[in-house]
Order: sequence, then structure tokens, then C-alpha cells
Amino acid sequence: MLKEENDRVDGFLKVTGKAKYFAEYELPGLTYGVLVTSTITKGKIISLDTKAAEKAPGVIAVISHLNKPSAAAYEQEGGPQMKIFYTDKIFYNGQPIAIVIANTFERATYAASLVKATYAKEEFNTDFEKALKDPKAKKLQGQADYKRGEENAYKTAEVKLEERYFLPIETHNPMELHGIIADWRPNNQLTVYAKTQGVKATQGTIANVFKIPMENIRVNSEFVGGGFGMALRTWPLEIAAIMASKHIGKPVKVVITRMQMFTMVGNRPATIQTIGLGANKDGKLTGITHRAYGETSTYENFTEGVVNMAKFMYQCDHVNTSYAIVPVDLGVPIWMRGPGEATGAFALESAIDEMAHALDMDPLDFRIKNDPETDQQKNKPFSSKNIKEAYKIGAEKIGWHNRKNKPGSLIEGPWQTGYGVSVGVFNANRGKASVKGILKADGSLLLQSATSDIGPGTGTGMTLIANKLMKIPVNKITFELGDSSLPPAPSQGGSATLSTVGSAVNDVCVALKSAIAELAANSNMDATSNFVEVLKKNNLPQIEITKESQGGKEKDSYSMYSFSIHFVQVKVNKLTGVVKMSKIVSVGDSGTIVSPKTARSQMLGGAVGGIGMALTEESIIDHRYGRYINNNFADYHVPVNADVPEIDVNFINKPDPYINPMGAKGMGEIALIGFSAAVANAVFNATGKRIRTLPITPDKILA
Ligand code: MOS
Repeated sequence: MLKEENDRVDGFLKVTGKAKYFAEYELPGLTYGVLVTSTITKGKIISLDTKAAEKAPGVIAVISHLNKPSAAAYEQEGGPQMKIFYTDKIFYNGQPIAIVIANTFERATYAASLVKATYAKEEFNTDFEKALKDPKAKKLQGQADYKRGEENAYKTAEVKLEERYFLPIETHNPMELHGIIADWRPNNQLTVYAKTQGVKATQGTIANVFKIPMENIRVNSEFVGGGFGMALRTWPLEIAAIMASKHIGKPVKVVITRMQMFTMVGNRPATIQTIGLGANKDGKLTGITHRAYGETSTYENFTEGVVNMAKFMYQCDHVNTSYAIVPVDLGVPIWMRGPGEATGAFALESAIDEMAHALDMDPLDFRIKNDPETDQQKNKPFSSKNIKEAYKIGAEKIGWHNRKNKPGSLIEGPWQTGYGVSVGVFNANRGKASVKGILKADGSLLLQSATSDIGPGTGTGMTLIANKLMKIPVNKITFELGDSSLPPAPSQGGSATLSTVGSAVNDVCVALKSAIAELAANSNMDATSNFVEVLKKNNLPQIEITKESQGGKEKDSYSMYSFSIHFVQVKVNKLTGVVKMSKIVSVGDSGTIVSPKTARSQMLGGAVGGIGMALTEESIIDHRYGRYINNNFADYHVPVNADVPEIDVNFINKPDPYINPMGAKGMGEIALIGFSAAVANAVFNATGKRIRTLPITPDKILA
């Protein structure tokens, strides 16, 4: 419970270890599942010898395609495409081919090592660049082509540029490993403790795969140790655990290894983009062309919004985009914070900086000059947009006046200083959610919804919305989430939870207030009476209201986006090529800030993720074997404290008049989107080197 207005509701539980994550549930008779994975990249399993594993101490069962227990939906059209244990086919290296269940984790791990597979290998390709060049390789349309005005108008512009940008595979590395505890009872009642961004989505997927009613399934996921998008779907490994529990009649826990996090639960796909920009000599954009190719798997397609931003972020009459996906022999990708937009913004916001340089303009002036008054793609006004004000705040805080437009101008010993700026933007979504509110005569309010919290502070935000409306002290409000039996809410993704679930909290509070006012009037009480007095006078221990809430027609009239501006100062070492982040100023333009502490944390986290994306993160594959070679924390570098400078977080904090009752737009994605371009732009300003391939490692600076 909150002690002070701006505390996190679960802060105390988290820092004292009292918050219980999925893997910490101790169920009676709990068993442990360990996955055996393919050691080839493509082909067929010829034989699978599980005898030694089955005889190993403590082993209860080994499940594979040889003894697949029934999972009804697998036999149907439209079921999950990665049919775990239902095929002898291998689609990628590290694909689960069997699960060993034992009475301890160590015994399951040992027994899993005894399972021997032989394969018929086939030719494969995990190299995205190679697939792109291969005329025989499939190229599937990822999004409809877009055209406004003339196609490729940049080609005939007074000043033009065309550049290619490469983003490698990035892997989600939340602290918490992925997994599930599944407890299937003989009467087909299933309880799971899961790591998921959506308890209702998980419940729905399981119901669909195993063909049991939703009501038979309870999904618990109260605390999640980070998600970043990887927990927005139910993965084959989870289906394997449920299958195993059904098969042996005992609860089964599966927690995958850090190495398996690189192959079993998706990643941000590698993407190649070309941007063509045209401008007149006065610095007005006259043409934008954005083409992208994203990586996908051979067994399932994944698409994201890589080219969205180019369609509306800048005033320009001639814009065209295209986006295709190219299958390679790897596991299917998934959204990763800021999903496609973060990928697209790296290219577009780098190119914008390159154009400003070509025009010999300050990139900030160039952006302001091309800032649109309305959304030209949707042909609608923005519901709210305070970009120019955000530019001004950020420029002042970072000390933009110290920047020299000529690259390589600020040198002190071996250190070259540079400044960079970029914009981030993401759809301001609002979905449909239900919240139950129980107002009690003891003065407390209980709110319930089957939403999630992967870290942004859902409970805190909801508590503060209720606190403001009901004038109930924060320590008397409880918000329950992460349980599929609560009133339905969407998954936590796409920066929409506060907007969606917060609106339902708002509506429940408004309804509770009017219910109390009516009770007061009916019992001849003063309209200002406290709800505790009103309930007591009416002999009511509590009143309870459930509200479903969703957006109306406002999206028909307005274009709704959240915006962010990232300013960075970097120092680049001439001798070593090392890039040090020396200062970060982020400005969020996301409507009302409901919860200042957690909102600031969102921006901090986005900047830290952005440093990783810009400077260190890259999942590297040895294409001879189709295997990741840096699938661990020693070799896959995520930023640590020493990499992170002072981050100055600012918010415009003006309500959006249309999005929802709070006037609050989402923040999770904009905290990261665009950040990597700000760093690339600052590196260019420091050194005159334009790096178009992430991450910006010292070898690229020195090359
Ligand atoms: Mo986010 S990539 O919508 O979890």
C-alpha cells in the first residue's frame, strides 16, 4: 500500500523480496521440466533415444513428438503454427524437441542431457543479408504500400539523399527468465503461474490449444520481472509445460535458461531500411521514401510498424513507404519495446539529421521547419501535440547552444563532444477494459481488473487515478491485477494500459460517487457526507460496481499520438573509438502525467534501453551453424550503471482533450523510440562519422 502520494504501491514488496514471481510458487508435488533442443538448424529428426533419460534418477516422463499427448487445437486449421512435439521437422537451431520431467530441476537438467537425437540435415540460411540478395528467397508483403503524392519524389529534389540503415537482431533481456508453472487437474481444471503481459490472452490461447473452456483455466501473473514485449504471446515452451502437467497429473514448472531466452521467446528482428529524402534549398522537405525489409521465420510470419512514422511525422506532400518480410531459418521474432517504430525511427531520424547537415542547417531548426500542423496521412488534426515546446525545453536543458553545426568542432584531448536530437512517436491507444470497484464501510476502496504490470507501475497509476477522484487516501486503495478471474482487460502492450484500464477506473469511481450521492439523498443525508457515513447509515458493508469502458468516436476526428524528444551529449574517444554517453535530456509529450514517479522511471528505462540499442546490443549468429554465439550476459552487452549518465526527464504534462478522461497518453514506447538515432546523430556531430549500422561499436568509429 502507498504511504505517500508518489510512492509505488508495490515498491516495498519488490525491494524486500515479498513480491512473488511466477517461478516462486511452491505447489504440492511440484515437478520440473527441462527442454531438450535441436542442435541442427533445419531438417528432420530421424531418431530420438529417450531411454537413458527415462531411466535416470527422479525422471517422471519424457515427452516428444513420439508420444505427443493430445492437444486438440493442434489438429485443427488455424491452431498454433509452431506445433511443439507434433512434428519431426526442425525449423531453427534451439527448437524444443522434447521435455524431460523430473522431481528436481537438477535431475531434469541431467536427464535432458541424455536424450540423443539423430537428424537428416537440410540446407539452411540464417543470414538475413544473404536472404535479401537471394532472388529465390521469399519476400512477403509486411504492410500495404503507402503513397501520398508522387512516388520517389526525393529523386528530383534540389537536395537529396538516399541511405541504407541496418539494425541487427536484438534480444529481450529482462531480469526474469521466461517460463510457467502449469497445474492440470484430472477434471480438466488448469491453474498456471505465468510470466505474461496478458493473463486474459494467455487464458484464451490455452483454451484454444487444449479445447477446454476459458472458465476452467486460471492464469496468475501478479508480478512480472520485465517483459519488453516478449511476453505478449504464449510460447511453445509454455504449451509443453501444460501438456506435461496434463500427461503426468502433477504440476510442472519450466524456467528456461538465459541461453534459451535467445531462441525460444522471440527477439527484435534484424531490419534493413532505405530512406530517400528530398528537400529544397530553403530546408523544406519535398519527398520522403521509406522502404524496409524485416526478418521473419519460415514457419510463422511476424510484422511490425517499421515505416509508420514516415507517413505523418514531417510535413511533406510526397511520401511513399513499403515494408516486406523475409523468412530465414530462425525462431519467430516478437515485439520488443517501441517495436517496429523504434527500428524505423533509427533510420528516419538519422536521415533527417543527415539532410539537415546536407542543407547546412541546425537539425533542430530543420525539424521545426518541417513540423506538421495536421496529420497528412489521416488528414486529421492531432488531438494534442506540443513538439515545438518540447524541443525548446530539451534544447535549453542539454545546452544545445554549445553545439557546433560543423562536426568534430568540440575537442578536448582525445575526447570529441557531440550533440544529437531525435523524435519518438507512438500511437496513443485506448482499448476496452472492465474494472470492478468495491467501496467499503471501513473507508477502503478495492479495484480489480485482469490487467498486468510488467514494470511500468500499473497499480500505482490506477491508485492515483482513484485517489484523485474519490479523495480516498492512497493507503486505503488497493488495485488487484494479474489474475484472469478478475474483470477482463487487454494485455499490457502498445503503451495503452493507463489509457485503457485507467479510463475504466475513472468510470467506476464516477459511478461509485453517484451511487453514494444517491444513497445519501435517499437517506436524507447531506450531499457532502462521507461515503463511510452513508454506507453505515444504510447498513451497507460495501457497494460494488463493475464498469466496462472504451474509447468513442474521438479517433474518427483526431489523430492521436504520444511524442518524445531525446537530446543527448556524447563524448567519443578518438584513440579507442569508445562512445560515452555524457548527458541525456528526454522530454515526454504524452498528455497528463498521472503518476510522476513511475512516469519518470519509464523514461529512464527507455533511455537505458536506448543506450543498449545504440551502442551495444546485437545478437550475433554463426551462420555456418545457425547458432547464436553471444547468447549470455557476458557477451550480449546491455548497459550497466557505469554506462548511464545523468538523465534529465521532463514532461509537457498538458492534458490531451480527447483521448480519455485523464487526458493521459501512453509512454512505454516513446521512452525508447528514436533514442538510438539521437546517439548516432551525436556521434556524427562529435566525429563527422555517420554510422548507419547499429550498434555503434568502437570498431565502426575507428574504421
Ligand atoms: Mo510492448 S513491445 O508493447 O510490450
